Amino acid sequence: MNKQCFLTVVLFFSFLVNILSVSAGNPASEKIFEGKPVINAPQITGNYPSTPFIFYIPTSGQRPMEWSVDKLPKGLKLNPETGIISGTIASKGDYTVTLKAKNALGTCEQKMIIRIGDELLLTPPMGWNSWNTFGRHLTEELVLQTADAMIANGMRDLGYSFINIDDFWQLPERGSDGHLQIDKTKFPRGIKYVADYLHERGFKLGIYSDAADKTCGGVCGSYGYEEVDAKDFASWGVDLLKYDYCNAPAGRVEAMNRYAKMGKALRATDRSIVFSICEWGQREPWKWAKEVGGHLWRVSGDIGDVWNREANQMGGLRGILNILEINAPLNEYAGPAGWNDPDMLVVGIGGKSMSIGSESEGCTQEQYKSHFGLWCMMASPLLCGNDVRNMNDSTLQILLDKDLIAINQDMLGKQAERSIRADYYDVWVKPLADGRKAVACFNRTNSPQVVELNTQTVEDLSLNQVYSLDTRTTVDTTKGIIVKLAPYQCKIYICGEAKKK
Ligand code: GLA
Repeated sequence: MNKQCFLTVVLFFSFLVNILSVSAGNPASEKIFEGKPVINAPQITGNYPSTPFIFYIPTSGQRPMEWSVDKLPKGLKLNPETGIISGTIASKGDYTVTLKAKNALGTCEQKMIIRIGDELLLTPPMGWNSWNTFGRHLTEELVLQTADAMIANGMRDLGYSFINIDDFWQLPERGSDGHLQIDKTKFPRGIKYVADYLHERGFKLGIYSDAADKTCGGVCGSYGYEEVDAKDFASWGVDLLKYDYCNAPAGRVEAMNRYAKMGKALRATDRSIVFSICEWGQREPWKWAKEVGGHLWRVSGDIGDVWNREANQMGGLRGILNILEINAPLNEYAGPAGWNDPDMLVVGIGGKSMSIGSESEGCTQEQYKSHFGLWCMMASPLLCGNDVRNMNDSTLQILLDKDLIAINQDMLGKQAERSIRADYYDVWVKPLADGRKAVACFNRTNSPQVVELNTQTVEDLSLNQVYSLDTRTTVDTTKGIIVKLAPYQCKIYICGEAKKK
């Protein structure tokens, strides 16, 4: 073959490969929109009385889809075409509804308790936060595009509902009218416009401030203006506040006071606003965060897009493995309406971060998979931090793992306990509401490991029925299971028989 002919053949093949990969789209997303309806809602959701309730019924399956709800309490209405339930309920209590979805291929239903009371976040929050990838470079356009992408790629249909704006939405100085000033170069139509856009699509909006004069990024914080700011957040339609602790005094009592002030101010508004406490675990917030109105609390400094790294003396970023160690002994403190927060996910960032990038090199696919699996086991918030507008299929496959998400969202709300910490591997156990147990075998090292799962190694383990999330099949278990783990791999099993309802 002469040179020109060879080049033509190469060009033709690369053209073909390109065409094929574009038309293949994202198989993981495509799967979400195929087949009969499957409702992926949590078993329970909470809201305060007489405050707006907004809930999209996450449902996979072919479109068009039509929704209905049985026993919807007075005050709420469903839009059957969008699957969004909205309204307000004045009286406290548990309202059990039956969510139903129907498409051309079939129907599906699922029971869900709407608990109207004093608690929010009865299962861990799921969503996205701007910080880990975009840092200070966030804009209205980014947030709206993120919402659109989460609809198109299927994330919304697996339960990701919060879209959280982190630091740098505000200007450095408070306005002469005493209010925080929105950076109009980034959010030209204001925050309310963004909130309305998100609510119309069944999402919730999170925002960020700090318990001092300035935030970590040096823009204006809320200290001394808690009531004013909480009212503004509520009037814009905010559903979550992440409240940081940069530039504030070190002591625990002062921190508790500052958080309590904001907690009280949020509770006094006419919205159900989740309060996310972010003082990096320095004052053991797991012991007091609920008392000051918190629904989740960071247990450590910031996560990096890195597998194993201790924070440096300047308080630099920590690896996934290192944060896991911090969160492991705190399982007793987590539960419905109050979660340990080992920080946002770094799945899929791949070293491309504008905020946590300087010290981070990215992780391997296996490491990201284990990160996600372990955060699910630990009932941790699942707040993605990657650019969800541009994800490859392997990242999507991790984030759209319905079985793992179900473990994370289980209504018993237990954080997995690490029942074995051997030299090279861990075994984690998370009891589930239906009496079964999720068991994770995790290889912490870069060489293969073998773990034996049986009733001697794990107490009270029922092996009469075991489902492997690795193979998505039932495993033959008469003599226990020999689990072979590749470097950094985490294999998760659901063990035992589900109690009859
Ligand atoms: C702190 C928090 C991060 C992020 C930044 C924003 O470091 O821990 O999660 O919110 O501030 O400046």
